[in-house]
Amino acid sequence: MKLNIAVLSGDGIGPEIVDQALKVVRAISKKFGHEVSTEEGLVGATAIDKVGDPYPESTHEICMEADAVLFGAIGDPKFDNDPTAKVRPEQGLLRMRKQLGLYANLRPVTTFPSLLHKSPLRKELVEGADFLCLRELTGGIYFGDKGRTEDNQGAFDHCVYTREEIARILHLAYKFALQRDKRVTVVDKANVLETSRLWREEAQKIEKEYPEVETDYMFVDNAAMQIIQWPKKFDVMVTENMFGDILTDEASVITGSLGLLPSASVGTHTSVFEPIHGSYPQAAGKDIANPVATILSAAMMFETAFELKEEGALIRKAVLASMDAGVVTEDIDKEKACKTSEVGDWIANYVLEA
Ligand code: IPM
Ligand code: MN
Repeated sequence: MKLNIAVLSGDGIGPEIVDQALKVVRAISKKFGHEVSTEEGLVGATAIDKVGDPYPESTHEICMEADAVLFGAIGDPKFDNDPTAKVRPEQGLLRMRKQLGLYANLRPVTTFPSLLHKSPLRKELVEGADFLCLRELTGGIYFGDKGRTEDNQGAFDHCVYTREEIARILHLAYKFALQRDKRVTVVDKANVLETSRLWREEAQKIEKEYPEVETDYMFVDNAAMQIIQWPKKFDVMVTENMFGDILTDEASVITGSLGLLPSASVGTHTSVFEPIHGSYPQAAGKDIANPVATILSAAMMFETAFELKEEGALIRKAVLASMDAGVVTEDIDKEKACKTSEVGDWIANYVLEA
């Protein structure tokens, strides 16, 4: 099969972690006889510096033509510390999500047997935890009108959702639940927010179409607590954009490192595969960042975008083997502290020799 992949490495550690994922993509493709063709696109602060736009039209075209997009990370502290900056790297990511119609961000939260001791939670609480968070990605407060009051003494961000936006991601959540443990938790703040009440109203209608699935409603503050108190209780969690952003960073703690969780964003055009973590600028260029989240995102790319399950499974097996062998970066083990590139080489090599 011919695999056309758009590669958007972005900022900070983006290029080095994407390089490791590409090593693994090439290794698995060699093993299974696929032909890989990659096209690189500028995004984020790097794109602002080069062409003044965090998601240039040329990058959008590359994404539209590709079968899948492999994405690194974006963000640069020089913008974070300048609240008056008009153009920001994050706008590139948000525009890409909107223009590619990526309305659902799938963030699986799983634990890794040989890293259970890394979790700040007790082993018996996290062992076997396995849930899928579906985060709505193109609506809500991220995309509503924002601005300052006329006298510049106040600011606002509108949170808006339409029934259609809510319904399409809820249906997707139920479809995933049918393939899993048939439980959906709808997370909202319906005791306070009108958008959340609309989510709940839609969910109460849609749940009737999936009688085999058990539906549970939870306020986001309660969900934040239960994720770490009892992570095993969740199967599929579905929520709006900002709640999903916050809850999945929190959920990554269960696994022991933010550097381990992958994601897939799907919607109306090409899908995008990216780690859930950020650009970790302090580590950029040092070859110390954990490439596993990006490598697992590549596994999701094989499974979801190319429907090549065996390839995805072998990448996962190689990742688990690297952990068992202690080939891990410093966020996992300060003493052994393998380099980013060593972890990538080890996993790519395992795949080739399997
Ligand atoms: C993420 C990130 C982004 C988000 C930022 C970089 C805009 O935190 O993908 O989770 O908030 O969606
Ligand atoms: Mn985030």
